[in-house]
Amino acid sequence: MREAQVGDVVFPHWFHRIRYRCDVCHEDIFVLKSGGTNINMARISERGEQCGVCHNGMIAWEALECDRCHSLEPGWSAGPIQHTYRGRKQERRTLKERALDIRIGSKAEPYSNIIKLASGWHPAALSESGLPLDRYGLVDWVAAVEEGKVDPIWKLDQKDTKRESRSTKILFVTNSEFVADVLFPHDIHVYWLECKICHGTKGGRIFEKEVGKTPVDMVGIRKGEWCGRCHDKVAFPVSDCNRCHNHPKGAAVEKDVIVRKAVQSDALMEENVER
Ligand code: HEC
Ligand code: HEC
Ligand code: HEC
Ligand code: HEC
Ligand code: HEC
Ligand code: HEC
Repeated sequence: MREAQVGDVVFPHWFHRIRYRCDVCHEDIFVLKSGGTNINMARISERGEQCGVCHNGMIAWEALECDRCHSLEPGWSAGPIQHTYRGRKQERRTLKERALDIRIGSKAEPYSNIIKLASGWHPAALSESGLPLDRYGLVDWVAAVEEGKVDPIWKLDQKDTKRESRSTKILFVTNSEFVADVLFPHDIHVYWLECKICHGTKGGRIFEKEVGKTPVDMVGIRKGEWCGRCHDKVAFPVSDCNRCHNHPKGAAVEKDVIVRKAVQSDALMEENVER
């Protein structure tokens, strides 16, 4: 973006989630991987593809309003929106440092900066929206759906009403005595996401459609694999341990739950050796 003399583009997921479930964009319009789609201006404004599917003056404002998307360049007039990001400390940092920051969350900075960034987006709109917040002050999307605060559509063509559902739960028995097991619910995921996003995504497969076939461990999740493909990026952060580790060891298992034994992966063994 530097060479083209326009600001970097910040895409706020949270703002779009209020109206759209993930399938609206993934993966017919965008691959579920940062940088996975070759996005460019000709496709957006001339061919009405990518952002231009909606930013065409009909569904949303037109692609002529450059700086609403190209909003992130030191020196670019900030406007009322991302002031949280444009603090003096940020200004001094290189583009590369900022890019790295956006991808990695840490214990001190519990949620990824991209989420923080988006939290600063239209703060007035956020507080007026009355969306429930979690303990990090991020939108609690599960509560938002349960309380009926949002009712996002899952297809731009609203006549299309058939959608597969699944309500089984998978209990990931963890390798560790110290953390609770993880009860993965299909239902809330299927509310937001189509089956193929987890079971056949173009952006790289996430889970086999068979219990226990995919080796899942915490090291990988922290690095952004499996559950970490979405959690820490668009869904609630990985630092919110108990929201996943929600099933105490030895607690009764309900009938519709499929139990999955822990997998000893190489990565986990390596980590144990390092310790
Ligand atoms: C309005 C469109 C839109 C909606 C709705 C949307 N996304 Fe995205 N998503 C994008 C775009 C654009 C990208 C970046 C793609 C690229 O760089 O090629 C992206 C990328 C991603 C990535 C990759 C991030 C990374 O760091 O690799 C994840 C994960 C993701 N989205 C998850 C979700 C989830 C989960 C939902 C629903 C809760 C969702 N998205 C809803 C447009 C959308
Ligand atoms: C709806 C959001 C949006 C709007 C509005 C928008 N752009 Fe873009 N623009 C993008 C995205 C996304 C990219 C691709 C970024 C990348 O390379 O990953 C891009 C890329 C570009 C590029 C890089 C070269 C290319 O063709 O990809 C230029 C130059 C550019 N935009 C100029 C403009 C100008 C000038 C305007 C106003 C007339 C504008 N943009 C409006 C989202 C937008
Ligand atoms: C599925 C439709 C859809 C797609 C695809 C989409 N948007 Fe949006 N976007 C919207 C709608 C609707 C709004 C809200 C418009 C309004 O408030 O008038 C919005 C709002 C925004 C905003 C909020 C800030 C503001 O000033 O209103 C930004 C920034 C934005 N979009 C950027 C993008 C970029 C960049 C892309 C492509 C990477 C993209 N959008 C793709 C529908 C979409
Ligand atoms: C958010 C990701 C995600 C989505 C979306 C998703 N699944 Fe799954 N699915 C999983 C995980 C995780 C497992 C367990 C995998 C393992 O043990 O390795 C699983 C396991 C399964 C299994 C084997 C266990 C069982 O329930 O019988 C089937 C079948 C399945 N999924 C079907 C579906 C269908 C059908 C949909 C869409 C309606 C869907 N999945 C959507 C993540 C997802
Ligand atoms: C493709 C994206 C994606 C993947 C992969 C994914 N999730 Fe999620 N998950 C979501 C979204 C979106 C929500 C809705 C809440 C949110 O956005 O914060 C959610 C919600 C949840 C909830 C509900 C929390 C509550 O408050 O009720 C749990 C538990 C959960 N995920 C666990 C997992 C586990 C465990 C894995 C891996 C086995 C996983 N998720 C993989 C996207 C994903
Ligand atoms: C998005 C969901 C999710 C979150 C959030 C999460 N975990 Fe996990 N974690 C898992 C899953 C799934 C497994 C099970 C892997 C398996 O089958 O062995 C796991 C396994 C583990 C294990 C067992 C060893 C291993 O590497 O598999 C430990 C220890 C652990 N997690 C600690 C944590 C801690 C500490 C946090 C908070 C900082 C945390 N987890 C947050 C999903 C999550």
